[in-house]
Amino acid sequence: MRSLVITGGTDGMGRALALTYLGRGDEVVIVGRDGEKGAAVLEAAAAMGAADRAHFVRADLSLVSENRRVIDEVRRVLSTVDALILCARHYRSTRAVTAEGFEDNFALFYLSRFVLGYGLVDLLDAAERPVILNVSGPGSGTSDVAWDDLQCERDYRGMDALMRGGPLNDLLGLGFVQNEASAKVRYVLLHPGTVSTSFSGEYDEQTQLVIDHLKDTARPIEEALAPMLEVLDHPPAAGLSAVVLGEALDVRGPAFDADAARRLYGETTVLLSRLASAAPGVSMSRLRRLLDRPVFATVATVHPDGGPHQSVVWVTRDGDDVLFVVAVGSRKERNLRRSPDVSVLVSPPEEPYTYAAIRGTATLSDEGATELRDALAIKYTGKAYADHNPEAVGRTRDTAITTVRVSPTRVVGRL
Ligand SMILES: NC(=O)c1ccc[n+]([C@@H]2O[C@H](COP(=O)([O-])OP(=O)(O)OC[C@H]3O[C@@H](n4cnc5c(N)ncnc54)[C@H](OP(=O)(O)O)[C@@H]3O)[C@@H](O)[C@H]2O)c1
Repeated sequence: MRSLVITGGTDGMGRALALTYLGRGDEVVIVGRDGEKGAAVLEAAAAMGAADRAHFVRADLSLVSENRRVIDEVRRVLSTVDALILCARHYRSTRAVTAEGFEDNFALFYLSRFVLGYGLVDLLDAAERPVILNVSGPGSGTSDVAWDDLQCERDYRGMDALMRGGPLNDLLGLGFVQNEASAKVRYVLLHPGTVSTSFSGEYDEQTQLVIDHLKDTARPIEEALAPMLEVLDHPPAAGLSAVVLGEALDVRGPAFDADAARRLYGETTVLLSRLASAAPGVSMSRLRRLLDRPVFATVATVHPDGGPHQSVVWVTRDGDDVLFVVAVGSRKERNLRRSPDVSVLVSPPEEPYTYAAIRGTATLSDEGATELRDALAIKYTGKAYADHNPEAVGRTRDTAITTVRVSPTRVVGRL
């Protein structure tokens, strides 16, 4: 049984995919903003005997805070995610700004996909052949990114604002792979062509006429599903791929500019950090989630002369305690034996202006240290320690290691 998360799963292609996989015996978390539509999908699921495998999370995905709540909800229901399918979108003839201050298309069509993709990466990593299917509009060219007007403040036109989502998502996919967010997850950008769906949106009169016409003339949903099912059922070998109307699109083309992807990633992290800066304090659920990911932590201990010592370590957690290993005789180990005062700092790489500094007391124990090092190596590299670093193991065969457990006394930061 596979586990899927589908945004915009209450209508259009998202709904059709949800029912397809529920019909096959898989488990699906459907995310949408309309409670009645959610209930209708659950009813359809129950009618096919899939009530216990269908979950609905009601959320307005144009809000970053709501995307974060969705990530928490998904974690409550699933321990792995085989496929994250991104289908939520909403057209607006008139410019709208979310309560968090982002232009609505940018927030829903791009930012939500950024937050969900990076935020669920560890659950995806835990699946056998994970895939993110970003249903958007790949290949239209980075020249379409309005770097000086990402929030469509100038001369807003509904169709232009929606179309901007294509290049932004192309760069999101490229950035995801460039950042090595995961060695396992396959990122697929897919343009389904023009498909007769609900065309969720708020249209002016003239645009509504065009939409009504499209509903009558565009391809049926069933036809558009085939290429999606193909990539979901057989994730491609490449980290990033793009499909337009069932045909592969070269992801080395002009839309996939590495510098532009880095730039967009950087600008997005700054935007997200501004949001975070409005709310200082650390959410313990976010912190637990962050520690479950292969995030690098900076550990600070106290030298005999009272000065600070810092180093970077792999970490995991047991409840709210932070665990890592140190070599016996290392500077860190000696410092901790003398003074158990320790600080561990973590920051999500995609939101570098947010962080949590965990101050606490360290307890050292030899028990289970080798097993913990192996578990950490698998978490960070996908391999047992000896396979990841055979030379070091050979060199330090007799070097003892010990486990450090940090029990928090205070957690500060902005996360
Ligand atoms: N249809 C096409 O011709 C076409 C062409 C190219 C690309 N695409 C892409 O394909 C994907 C699926 O499109 P579709 O036409 O199947 O979609 P659709 O029928 O318009 O449905 C969109 C879904 O997104 C949900 N949604 C809208 N705003 C939301 C919000 N703020 N928070 C959470 N959910 C929200 C909608 O819920 P409500 O029903 O409550 O609004 C609906 O479930 C989209 O990413 C779209 O850009 C479609």
